[in-house]
Amino acid sequence: MNKTKVNLDKKISASYEIFIGEDILDRIGMIITKNNCASRYVIITDSNVAILHGERLLTTLKETGLKIDMIEFPAGEASKNIDTTLDIIKKLIDIGIDRRSALIALGGGVVGDIVGFVASTYMRGIPYYQIPTTLLAQVDSSIGGKTAIDLPEGKNLMGTFYQPKGVFIDLSFLKTLPSREFNSGMAEIVKYGIIDDTELFDLLESKTKAIKDKDITLLSTIIGKSCRIKKGIIEIDEKETGLRRILNFGHTIGHAIEAESDYSISHGDAVSIGMVAATRISQKLKYLPSEDRKRIEHLIKATGLPCRIPISISTEGILARLKVDKKKEDDANKFVLLKKLGMPFVNGGVPEEIARETIEELKG
Ligand SMILES: NC(=O)c1ccc[n+]([C@@H]2O[C@H](COP(=O)([O-])OP(=O)(O)OC[C@H]3O[C@@H](n4cnc5c(N)ncnc54)[C@H](O)[C@@H]3O)[C@@H](O)[C@H]2O)c1
Repeated sequence: MNKTKVNLDKKISASYEIFIGEDILDRIGMIITKNNCASRYVIITDSNVAILHGERLLTTLKETGLKIDMIEFPAGEASKNIDTTLDIIKKLIDIGIDRRSALIALGGGVVGDIVGFVASTYMRGIPYYQIPTTLLAQVDSSIGGKTAIDLPEGKNLMGTFYQPKGVFIDLSFLKTLPSREFNSGMAEIVKYGIIDDTELFDLLESKTKAIKDKDITLLSTIIGKSCRIKKGIIEIDEKETGLRRILNFGHTIGHAIEAESDYSISHGDAVSIGMVAATRISQKLKYLPSEDRKRIEHLIKATGLPCRIPISISTEGILARLKVDKKKEDDANKFVLLKKLGMPFVNGGVPEEIARETIEELKG
């Protein structure tokens, strides 16, 4: 099992470790016991993960002597709301959870986001651990302490920054993960290669078959590298006031495409198309050499991720959504663009014509 430390604000209390390995559930119990941050624990998970892995984790942690319960809620983004949050909080009160207790988020980004939010607000804040079970959660959402729930007015509009006490990444969870969810995580891994680590990019380029075969040794390497990249960025900019924004590469147009498709396009596919769009815009604005653009598009295709926007999705609809994007500041959309592979920057103003031309080009 490998471990990586996330050092925040030079305050030891806010720092935590990310453990990565295969079949590590038994060791998770030992580490939690050793950390001794609570006298009682509650696993919170969704209905899919509860069936696949919940009982196994509950039993394993009980065997290590932890006093532990489990709560579940219906799987899916539709649950990431205030009703589910209040429902969880009521259940915690009912079973007598107090300030000496800690939560354990077992699941994908939806579970991690809600549990982090509940932990940050329940009795003014109790500790929590992340046990991410999707590839996206393992390389992205479980690290960095962003918690959130959705409101009727939009996604992630209510939330906090609240760091977990530890993150446990068990690769064996990936064996049950559907391909659509696997691709969501792969899109984020490719993003890290593009924005931060040309060595990771080269590795991905040379191992596209092993990626498609979900080779566990390769996955362990690229998940480890991805976690270290995300940790490095959030150590510098925990609250997304600057550098952390580069993690939004591909997400601006991606979110607009995802929403315009009424969420029939998955988040990962939308981010993947969004990265192609941001790459093309970077070349059109004469920042990025065409050789780098070709390599990026080739890698995205070779890993089985999409590059094209379905013809049925309206260009004007995407542009309208870009205008109301919550990251919009003043009149200009904030796009993360590239100067070259491994060198992203935040650009305040992409002319609408260039965005329109790029979207049209990617249709079909
Ligand atoms: N906090 C952050 O920094 C951050 C970053 C990125 C995304 N997010 C959030 O993460 C959410 C998306 O996360 P996600 O893609 O993990 O989605 P998700 O949590 O909805 O999981 C996707 C699906 O996979 C199922 N699942 C989870 N693990 C499984 C496993 N091992 N085997 C089989 N099925 C499994 C889930 O039940 C669900 O149906 C969004 O709400 C997004 O806003 C947060």
